[in-house]
Amino acid sequence: MKGLILAGGMGTRLRPLSHTGPKQLVPVGNKPVLFYGIEALRDAGIEEIGIIVGYTDERIQFLKDSCGDGSEFGVKITYIRQDAPRGLAHAVDIAKDFMDGEDFVVYLGDNILKSGIKDFVEDFKTNGSDISLLLSKHKTPEKFGVALFNEENEITYVEEKPEKPKTDYVITGIYLFRNNIFDAIKNVKPGKKGELQLTDAIKEFVLSEDKKVKATIVDGWWDDTGNAEDILRANHLVLMDLKENIKGEVEEDVKIIGGVEIGEGSVIKKGSKIKGPVIIGKNCVIEGYVGPYTSIGDNSKIKGGEIESSIIVGEVNINFNEKIVDSLIGKDVVINSSENNLPKGHRFILGEHSEVRI
Ligand code: DAU
Repeated sequence: MKGLILAGGMGTRLRPLSHTGPKQLVPVGNKPVLFYGIEALRDAGIEEIGIIVGYTDERIQFLKDSCGDGSEFGVKITYIRQDAPRGLAHAVDIAKDFMDGEDFVVYLGDNILKSGIKDFVEDFKTNGSDISLLLSKHKTPEKFGVALFNEENEITYVEEKPEKPKTDYVITGIYLFRNNIFDAIKNVKPGKKGELQLTDAIKEFVLSEDKKVKATIVDGWWDDTGNAEDILRANHLVLMDLKENIKGEVEEDVKIIGGVEIGEGSVIKKGSKIKGPVIIGKNCVIEGYVGPYTSIGDNSKIKGGEIESSIIVGEVNINFNEKIVDSLIGKDVVINSSENNLPKGHRFILGEHSEVRI
């Protein structure tokens, strides 16, 4: 079997972070979301992975620089350019030559799944279905594709983002297909926003008497990291299982509580408190309080104040005596205290689509 990760699209819901790089490279637990997908495919025994990379040269280069030829993951990666975000069915269709007749897994590049996909893939090899879908219950099914299934776990109905969902089971971003999906994609007509929906191609199989679409329910958590709130939740879920692993330097009079990971070359300065789960990358200098569910990327300097439940992508300079919570802070961001400046007041230099709550 082969794998296909969809990492094209616009990423507008993750602006401004997606102005500087693909949303699939935003780190969760200090690891780009996309890497979770590559590792899940590899752990299921898939050695050849195609990645749909979108259309701008800059974006494609970003993805190539991050994932390389795949050898660091133990897989072979082929990059496939999509000329515009024409929908998931279009993205799958342009990978037809790459699949070369084999069965394949489609993994949406902004999804993270705790349990991995090994059992799901193994089952597909022998279950005789045309398609297997991984479903999960969700509180807001209207934001997803939804599916109904019968007692034999056969899917009987699918719909993409219905206004009034008939079920709270949603289609996660992990699909198993055989080569006949390409015939169904040929019949898909542009749907909402003019995109070719993969759910519509799947619907053709669901409605057909002699085709079988199987449902498997996700074991453990699943997250679609579409917007800032989802990505912070994914960070919570990933850090939940963090174990203590301290490679950096911890100065005297520092309190470390719970699962805390500190990378090489990082220094936790005297008097600081780190309450896990917290992950701190390489070459950081931290002085102050870092609280649960925080990920701090490499080369960050943080002094004073408190940070909790946040993602700091890296290379930031924060010198601030207040509390930062539930925040997503991009690369190269500077946050300074204006305590000693006149006139008093908050000072901002914010790019397009930034968001501040004070
Ligand atoms: O996350 C699960 C949901 O993913 C499913 O429940 C829906 O049925 C399915 O349509 C999809 O909905 P989203 O609105 O979340 O899809 P999104 O536009 O965010 O795209 C998912 C991934 O595919 C993302 O990594 C970008 C990539 N993509 C998207 C489009 C539209 C492409 O590579 N090419 C594209 O043309």
